[in-house]
Amino acid sequence: MLSGTWLNAVGMTADEVLRVERLRAYYTSKRGLVRAVEDVSFSVNKGQCVALFGESGAGKTSVALAILGLFDRAARYYASVSGDEENKQLWRLRDEAKAKGLTSREMGLELPGVEGHIWFEGRDLLSLDETELRRIRGNRITYVPQGTRKSMNPYLTVEQQTAEPMRVHDEDGTLTRDEAMRRVLEALRLVELNEVDIRRLQKPPDLSVGEDQRVLIAMALVTRPSLLIADEPATAVDVGVRSRIIEALEIARSEMGLAMLLISNDQGIVADLADQVAVMSAGRIMEFGTAERVLLSPGHPFTRAFLMSNPSMEILRRIREKGLRIRGIPGSPPDPVSPPQGCPFHPRCQFADDLCGREVPEYRQVEEGHWVFCHKYEELPEW
Ligand SMILES: Nc1ncnc2c1ncn2[C@@H]1O[C@H](COP(=O)(O)OP(=O)(O)OP(=O)(O)O)[C@@H](O)[C@H]1O
Ligand code: SF4
Ligand SMILES: [Mg+2]
Repeated sequence: MLSGTWLNAVGMTADEVLRVERLRAYYTSKRGLVRAVEDVSFSVNKGQCVALFGESGAGKTSVALAILGLFDRAARYYASVSGDEENKQLWRLRDEAKAKGLTSREMGLELPGVEGHIWFEGRDLLSLDETELRRIRGNRITYVPQGTRKSMNPYLTVEQQTAEPMRVHDEDGTLTRDEAMRRVLEALRLVELNEVDIRRLQKPPDLSVGEDQRVLIAMALVTRPSLLIADEPATAVDVGVRSRIIEALEIARSEMGLAMLLISNDQGIVADLADQVAVMSAGRIMEFGTAERVLLSPGHPFTRAFLMSNPSMEILRRIREKGLRIRGIPGSPPDPVSPPQGCPFHPRCQFADDLCGREVPEYRQVEEGHWVFCHKYEELPEW
């Protein structure tokens, strides 16, 4: 099993920067618990880029929020503003479970919030308190969020914005102005912002689309993190801007040797940046393997359907060769409040049978390092 293999290993390997084990993350809502992330395991090595690739609502950002220790805050928001007593009670029980060191299962309840393990630099982030997490977040682990402009302060110059994460994390006040400036310029040059000496004095409204994204990437690099999470880093931008953003991320990874978790539903970006790909749907990893195998020889029916619904040039060529038609995935993604029994893809899968509707599949290793979450892998037609 995918999770089993990683779970059985004791401790992190020397190269592993992040290891996520059996992660589960549930929100509360008016309709009940939203099962956004279900039994997700993967790891990211130093200098490696792993992509969480999948459809909208698959739970990709929720995984990022869990790693950053921000999931509960986002998830509690609804319960706190809605005045929904039942949900408030669920969060109280979650706090009680945490204080006692118990899981939902040990409490005999289904509770909102995050469970599992998130190992980073030898510690389980889920066991840390907010003060400890604050030292890591925005410092050792940085985040380039989905949606750019609203993450910037329109009144600060590029230089001030970029220096901000260093300032916030300079707890003992040892960072000198010269050192801060040196690192700001280094980060802005790394993301290839043109005419840095002039641009550093400008404010976000003076930046073009794409430049603002690169400044956000510089902000995520300036503390010299060991893990950078980039959430949909180049969506809704034109081709030129997109390639410059991808280049900036690629340079950052190779020059700084950082581990990168890329979140995207764009196979072009994933193909350009990722070494390994975890395909996500309905809160689960459907397939995991090298970018080349997963994108060119996908084993899972969901991956195949997802790639076909928005094909790259390579996939287009294959579709034509085989006389197939481009089509979207039929039906809608499952409702995370009441997910289907068995394989979460079964209501939309053309190969589903009774077993698929009854039992959750296990991960099968179909070749070295390539895992597929499907009961019927052996019976599927060749891709
Ligand atoms: N604050 C919240 N409260 C309740 N449900 C939420 C909340 N935020 C997200 N969800 C739900 O959790 C599920 C996973 O959402 P998430 O944002 O992680 O998906 P995603 O894969 O990042 O999607 P996208 O590609 O659209 O960004 C979705 O069903 C979403 O509607
Ligand atoms: S387990 Fe069954 S329903 Fe799920 S992807 Fe495989 S064939 Fe389709
Ligand atoms: Mg998202």
